[in-house]
Amino acid sequence: MRKKIVAGNWKMNLTSVQSEDLVAGISEKLKNFDSNGKRIIVAPTFVNLVPVINCEDRDTAIEVAAQNMHQASSGAYTGEIAANMLQTIGVPNVILGHSERRAYFGETDTLLAEKVEVALEHNMQIIFCFGEELEDRKAGKHFDVVESQLKNALFQLPDSAWKDIVLAYEPVWAIGTGETASPEQAQEMHEFIRKTIALAYGNAIADEVSILYGGSVKPANAKEIFSKPDVDGGLIGGASLKADDFFAIIDAM
Ligand code: PGA
Repeated sequence: MRKKIVAGNWKMNLTSVQSEDLVAGISEKLKNFDSNGKRIIVAPTFVNLVPVINCEDRDTAIEVAAQNMHQASSGAYTGEIAANMLQTIGVPNVILGHSERRAYFGETDTLLAEKVEVALEHNMQIIFCFGEELEDRKAGKHFDVVESQLKNALFQLPDSAWKDIVLAYEPVWAIGTGETASPEQAQEMHEFIRKTIALAYGNAIADEVSILYGGSVKPANAKEIFSKPDVDGGLIGGASLKADDFFAIIDAM
Protein backbone atom coordinates (compact mmCIF):
# COMPACT_ATOMS: atom_id res chain seq x y z
CA MET A 1 0.00 0.00 0.00
CA ARG A 2 1.45 3.32 -1.00
CA LYS A 3 1.96 5.87 1.76
CA LYS A 4 0.07 9.09 2.28
CA ILE A 5 2.47 11.99 2.75
CA VAL A 6 2.27 15.67 3.61
CA ALA A 7 5.56 17.52 3.12
CA GLY A 8 6.23 21.17 3.96
CA ASN A 9 8.71 23.01 1.78
CA TRP A 10 9.84 25.97 3.87
CA LYS A 11 11.89 27.39 0.96
CA MET A 12 14.17 30.34 1.91
CA ASN A 13 12.13 31.27 4.98
CA LEU A 14 12.60 31.30 8.77
CA THR A 15 15.62 31.80 11.02
CA SER A 16 16.86 28.88 13.10
CA VAL A 17 14.80 29.94 16.12
CA GLN A 18 11.72 30.33 13.96
CA SER A 19 12.36 26.92 12.39
CA GLU A 20 12.59 25.30 15.83
CA ASP A 21 9.43 27.08 16.92
CA LEU A 22 7.57 25.89 13.86
CA VAL A 23 8.58 22.23 14.22
CA ALA A 24 7.75 22.43 17.94
CA GLY A 25 4.36 23.96 17.09
CA ILE A 26 3.54 21.21 14.61
CA SER A 27 4.70 18.58 17.14
CA GLU A 28 2.41 20.06 19.77
CA LYS A 29 -0.55 19.74 17.40
CA LEU A 30 0.36 16.13 16.64
CA LYS A 31 0.31 15.11 20.32
CA ASN A 32 -3.16 13.65 20.33
CA PHE A 33 -3.29 12.91 16.65
CA ASP A 34 -3.17 9.44 15.18
CA SER A 35 -1.14 9.83 12.03
CA ASN A 36 -2.15 6.31 11.06
CA GLY A 37 0.97 5.50 9.08
CA LYS A 38 0.96 8.77 7.16
CA ARG A 39 4.35 10.40 6.65
CA ILE A 40 4.91 14.00 7.71
CA ILE A 41 8.01 15.72 6.37
CA VAL A 42 9.42 19.24 6.72
CA ALA A 43 12.14 20.77 4.55
CA PRO A 44 13.96 23.65 6.27
CA THR A 45 16.85 25.53 4.64
CA PHE A 46 20.27 23.84 4.82
CA VAL A 47 21.44 25.84 7.84
CA ASN A 48 18.27 25.02 9.75
CA LEU A 49 18.35 21.27 9.20
CA VAL A 50 20.46 20.54 12.29
CA PRO A 51 18.49 22.87 14.59
CA VAL A 52 15.25 21.18 13.48
CA ILE A 53 16.70 17.65 13.75
CA ASN A 54 18.03 18.40 17.25
CA CYS A 55 15.02 20.37 18.43
CA GLU A 56 14.01 18.77 21.71
CA ASP A 57 10.36 19.52 21.09
CA ARG A 58 10.25 17.85 17.69
CA ASP A 59 7.93 14.87 17.45
CA THR A 60 10.41 12.39 15.97
CA ALA A 61 7.69 11.13 13.64
CA ILE A 62 8.22 14.39 11.72
CA GLU A 63 10.85 13.58 9.11
CA VAL A 64 13.27 16.10 7.71
CA ALA A 65 14.19 16.73 4.07
CA ALA A 66 16.73 18.95 2.35
CA GLN A 67 15.43 21.24 -0.39
CA ASN A 68 18.25 20.44 -2.81
CA MET A 69 21.77 18.98 -3.05
CA HIS A 70 24.71 19.04 -5.46
CA GLN A 71 25.50 16.07 -7.65
CA ALA A 72 29.25 15.96 -6.94
CA SER A 73 30.54 14.19 -3.83
CA SER A 74 32.93 17.02 -2.91
CA GLY A 75 35.14 19.63 -4.56
CA ALA A 76 35.37 23.20 -5.76
CA TYR A 77 31.66 24.06 -5.88
CA THR A 78 31.41 27.16 -3.74
CA GLY A 79 28.14 27.44 -1.89
CA GLU A 80 26.96 23.89 -2.60
CA ILE A 81 26.10 20.91 -0.37
CA ALA A 82 26.88 17.25 -1.13
CA ALA A 83 24.72 14.20 -0.46
CA ASN A 84 27.05 12.67 2.13
CA MET A 85 27.00 15.94 4.11
CA LEU A 86 23.25 15.61 4.38
CA GLN A 87 23.37 11.92 5.08
CA THR A 88 25.90 12.28 7.88
CA ILE A 89 23.84 14.87 9.75
CA GLY A 90 20.82 12.57 9.63
CA VAL A 91 18.81 13.91 6.69
CA PRO A 92 17.16 10.93 4.97
CA ASN A 93 15.14 12.81 2.32
CA VAL A 94 15.84 15.36 -0.38
CA ILE A 95 13.58 17.40 -2.65
CA LEU A 96 14.91 17.44 -6.22
CA GLY A 97 13.68 19.24 -9.32
CA HIS A 98 11.54 21.89 -7.66
CA SER A 99 10.30 24.32 -10.30
CA GLU A 100 12.13 27.18 -8.55
CA ARG A 101 15.41 25.25 -8.93
CA ARG A 102 14.57 24.62 -12.58
CA ALA A 103 13.54 28.23 -13.30
CA TYR A 104 16.04 30.28 -11.25
CA PHE A 105 19.04 27.96 -11.14
CA GLY A 106 18.82 26.38 -14.57
CA GLU A 107 18.36 22.79 -13.41
CA THR A 108 17.66 20.56 -16.39
CA ASP A 109 16.26 17.04 -16.64
CA THR A 110 19.78 15.78 -17.44
CA LEU A 111 21.24 17.37 -14.32
CA LEU A 112 18.33 16.05 -12.26
CA ALA A 113 18.89 12.52 -13.55
CA GLU A 114 22.42 12.81 -12.17
CA LYS A 115 21.28 14.20 -8.81
CA VAL A 116 18.68 11.43 -8.51
CA GLU A 117 21.35 8.76 -9.01
CA VAL A 118 23.68 10.33 -6.48
CA ALA A 119 20.94 10.70 -3.86
CA LEU A 120 19.99 7.04 -4.30
CA GLU A 121 23.64 5.96 -4.00
CA HIS A 122 23.57 7.66 -0.60
CA ASN A 123 20.41 5.78 0.41
CA MET A 124 18.36 8.93 0.44
CA GLN A 125 14.68 9.09 -0.42
CA ILE A 126 13.76 11.59 -3.09
CA ILE A 127 10.75 13.84 -3.46
CA PHE A 128 10.96 14.49 -7.18
CA CYS A 129 9.10 17.58 -8.41
CA PHE A 130 7.92 18.31 -11.92
CA GLY A 131 5.03 20.03 -13.66
CA GLU A 132 4.08 22.11 -16.65
CA GLU A 133 4.07 25.88 -17.07
CA LEU A 134 0.96 27.86 -17.90
CA GLU A 135 1.84 28.17 -21.60
CA ASP A 136 2.20 24.38 -21.82
CA ARG A 137 -1.26 23.88 -20.38
CA LYS A 138 -2.81 26.57 -22.59
CA ALA A 139 -1.24 24.89 -25.61
CA GLY A 140 -2.58 21.50 -24.49
CA LYS A 141 0.97 20.18 -24.04
CA HIS A 142 0.84 19.49 -20.30
CA PHE A 143 0.76 15.70 -20.58
CA ASP A 144 3.69 15.69 -23.03
CA VAL A 145 5.75 17.99 -20.81
CA VAL A 146 5.15 15.91 -17.69
CA GLU A 147 5.86 12.67 -19.54
CA SER A 148 9.18 13.98 -20.85
CA GLN A 149 10.22 15.35 -17.43
CA LEU A 150 9.62 11.92 -15.91
CA LYS A 151 11.26 9.98 -18.72
CA ASN A 152 14.34 12.19 -18.92
CA ALA A 153 15.09 12.29 -15.21
CA LEU A 154 13.78 8.99 -13.84
CA PHE A 155 13.19 6.33 -16.44
CA GLN A 156 16.84 5.28 -16.53
CA LEU A 157 16.39 3.93 -12.99
CA PRO A 158 16.17 0.22 -12.23
CA ASP A 159 12.91 -1.14 -10.78
CA SER A 160 14.51 -1.37 -7.33
CA ALA A 161 15.00 2.42 -7.13
CA TRP A 162 11.30 3.23 -7.11
CA LYS A 163 10.77 2.33 -3.47
CA ASP A 164 12.85 5.45 -2.68
CA ILE A 165 11.03 7.83 -5.00
CA VAL A 166 8.06 10.02 -4.14
CA LEU A 167 6.65 12.09 -7.00
CA ALA A 168 5.32 15.63 -6.56
CA TYR A 169 3.28 16.99 -9.44
CA GLU A 170 3.37 20.76 -9.15
CA PRO A 171 1.92 22.75 -12.04
CA VAL A 172 4.14 25.84 -12.11
CA TRP A 173 1.13 28.14 -12.63
CA ALA A 174 -0.28 27.01 -9.27
CA ILE A 175 2.84 27.50 -7.12
CA GLY A 176 2.62 30.47 -4.78
CA THR A 177 -0.04 32.04 -6.98
CA GLY A 178 -3.14 31.22 -4.95
CA GLU A 179 -4.44 29.45 -8.04
CA THR A 180 -4.84 25.72 -7.42
CA ALA A 181 -5.40 23.03 -9.99
CA SER A 182 -8.95 21.80 -9.55
CA PRO A 183 -9.21 18.42 -7.83
CA GLU A 184 -10.29 17.04 -11.23
CA GLN A 185 -7.25 18.51 -12.99
CA ALA A 186 -4.99 17.05 -10.30
CA GLN A 187 -6.63 13.62 -10.52
CA GLU A 188 -6.48 13.62 -14.32
CA MET A 189 -2.74 14.33 -14.27
CA HIS A 190 -1.96 11.95 -11.40
CA GLU A 191 -3.79 9.16 -13.19
CA PHE A 192 -1.78 9.92 -16.33
CA ILE A 193 1.47 9.87 -14.31
CA ARG A 194 0.61 6.50 -12.77
CA LYS A 195 -0.27 5.07 -16.19
CA THR A 196 2.99 6.38 -17.64
CA ILE A 197 4.92 4.63 -14.87
CA ALA A 198 2.88 1.47 -15.32
CA LEU A 199 3.75 1.38 -19.03
CA ALA A 200 7.46 1.65 -18.27
CA TYR A 201 7.72 -0.35 -15.05
CA GLY A 202 4.50 -2.34 -14.65
CA ASN A 203 1.45 -1.98 -12.44
CA ALA A 204 3.02 -3.13 -9.17
CA ILE A 205 5.56 -0.29 -9.13
CA ALA A 206 3.06 2.27 -10.41
CA ASP A 207 0.57 1.34 -7.69
CA GLU A 208 3.17 1.67 -4.95
CA VAL A 209 4.57 5.11 -5.81
CA SER A 210 3.12 8.00 -3.83
CA ILE A 211 2.19 10.96 -6.03
CA LEU A 212 1.81 14.26 -4.18
CA TYR A 213 0.10 17.35 -5.51
CA GLY A 214 1.69 20.76 -4.92
CA GLY A 215 0.58 24.28 -5.72
CA SER A 216 -1.39 26.57 -3.39
CA VAL A 217 -2.69 23.75 -1.19
CA LYS A 218 -4.39 25.28 1.86
CA PRO A 219 -6.57 24.09 4.72
CA ALA A 220 -9.62 25.17 2.71
CA ASN A 221 -8.89 23.10 -0.40
CA ALA A 222 -6.76 20.22 0.91
CA LYS A 223 -9.54 17.76 1.71
CA GLU A 224 -11.08 17.87 -1.74
CA ILE A 225 -7.74 17.49 -3.50
CA PHE A 226 -6.63 14.65 -1.21
CA SER A 227 -9.93 12.83 -1.73
CA LYS A 228 -8.95 11.98 -5.30
CA PRO A 229 -7.85 8.37 -5.73
CA ASP A 230 -4.45 9.05 -7.32
CA VAL A 231 -3.52 11.96 -5.04
CA ASP A 232 -1.49 10.59 -2.14
CA GLY A 233 -0.89 13.83 -0.27
CA GLY A 234 0.71 17.19 -0.88
CA LEU A 235 3.88 19.24 -1.07
CA ILE A 236 3.01 22.44 0.69
CA GLY A 237 4.83 25.78 0.42
CA GLY A 238 3.25 28.90 1.91
CA ALA A 239 0.75 27.08 4.10
CA SER A 240 3.50 24.96 5.69
CA LEU A 241 4.94 28.01 7.45
CA LYS A 242 2.18 28.16 10.06
CA ALA A 243 1.71 25.25 12.47
CA ASP A 244 -2.08 25.63 12.48
CA ASP A 245 -2.40 25.61 8.70
CA PHE A 246 0.08 22.78 8.20
CA PHE A 247 -1.65 20.66 10.82
CA ALA A 248 -5.05 21.36 9.24
CA ILE A 249 -3.65 20.08 5.94
CA ILE A 250 -2.21 16.96 7.63
CA ASP A 251 -5.60 16.40 9.25
CA ALA A 252 -7.32 16.74 5.87
CA MET A 253 -5.32 13.86 4.44
P1 PGA B 1 2.82 26.80 -2.52
O1 PGA B 1 4.21 26.10 -2.92
O2 PGA B 1 2.08 25.82 -1.65
O3 PGA B 1 3.22 28.05 -1.77
O4 PGA B 1 2.10 27.09 -3.79
C1 PGA B 1 4.26 24.73 -3.23
C2 PGA B 1 5.68 24.36 -3.59
O5 PGA B 1 6.41 25.18 -4.14
O6 PGA B 1 6.11 23.22 -3.31
